[in-house]
Amino acid sequence: KGHINDHDDEEILALISQLPKTKGWLKFGMSQYQDFWCPPNLVANVIRFQQHFQAQDHDIILASHPKSGTIWLKALLYSIINRHRYTSSNTPLLNSNPHQLIPFFEFTLYSSDTKPPNNSISYDPSPRLFSTHIPYASMADSIKHSSKCKIVYISRNPLDVLVSFWHFASWQPERIEEWTMEEYVEKFCNGETVFGPFWNHVLGYWKESLEKPEKVLFLKYEEMKEDFVVQVKKLADFVGFPFSREEESQGVIEQISNLCSFSNLKDLDVNKHGKLMSNGLENKSYFRKGKVGDWVNHLSPSMAARLNTVMKEKFRGSGLTF
Ligand code: A3P
Repeated sequence: KGHINDHDDEEILALISQLPKTKGWLKFGMSQYQDFWCPPNLVANVIRFQQHFQAQDHDIILASHPKSGTIWLKALLYSIINRHRYTSSNTPLLNSNPHQLIPFFEFTLYSSDTKPPNNSISYDPSPRLFSTHIPYASMADSIKHSSKCKIVYISRNPLDVLVSFWHFASWQPERIEEWTMEEYVEKFCNGETVFGPFWNHVLGYWKESLEKPEKVLFLKYEEMKEDFVVQVKKLADFVGFPFSREEESQGVIEQISNLCSFSNLKDLDVNKHGKLMSNGLENKSYFRKGKVGDWVNHLSPSMAARLNTVMKEKFRGSGLTF
């Protein structure tokens, strides 16, 4: 824990070896770094990101707790920003998983395989689009303090997040054991989820969105499902690519909605058969059901009650409900 200065890799490894650890379903468990749980192999990436990333004013960073609809938001954001370059029939989304188009700091850009020297990341066109699961408190300083970059956060009902993650975990090639839903509920309630505790993650971005609404846009998965047009217009306005009246009357929003819909993305060849990571995780594991409230099919009433009690307590006074 504590502030990280310019460590070289050996120092980073020494630091990682001293972090608190807990069991996880992945081979290496999880380490606690700066108040969040993180697979140990990612901690070094997070540190490199914190040391080296220099945000620029036009950057847009998409942040989320895992399984909140990140991939959907990536497809939407990419489509909104690039709508003057591509149509629904030639967009790179047809041949690439959204994670390839908007890279994660911690999985991709600052992985030891990539290892960019200080501030070397740049690509055309502006704005640069990045994504992350890192909690707000642990974002690189230049994101939080010195640049006007924008952050879009997507949140989701914790019970649906949990159920989504439980399935996702069972498809991980590097998992070590199957966890029962009951065990996972316990872990979730103890805050031991990847990049969790869940409530710290959500509240960190939520508070920032209240204090700096021009900096952080806080979206909800359920609201996007229910009221897509309103939410997507809000998103486009926020990132500085508002839809014109003409575009609206031409049905541009509807085209984007269809392109990025669960059923459309799921059925694309790249998402049906492709693999994203070198560990063999298949793209199809990012497209399970895409529904609101699927938790009722997987959690017993007592599990749901336990989760709801914990969440109520953790979110009390925040103004945030799910
Ligand atoms: P379920 O497991 O409940 O189906 P993330 O991208 O953060 O990992 O989130 C994955 C969740 O979003 C999964 O939830 C997945 O099915 C859902 N999802 C993927 N694409 C979607 C889309 N286009 N629209 C709505 N939900 C989508």
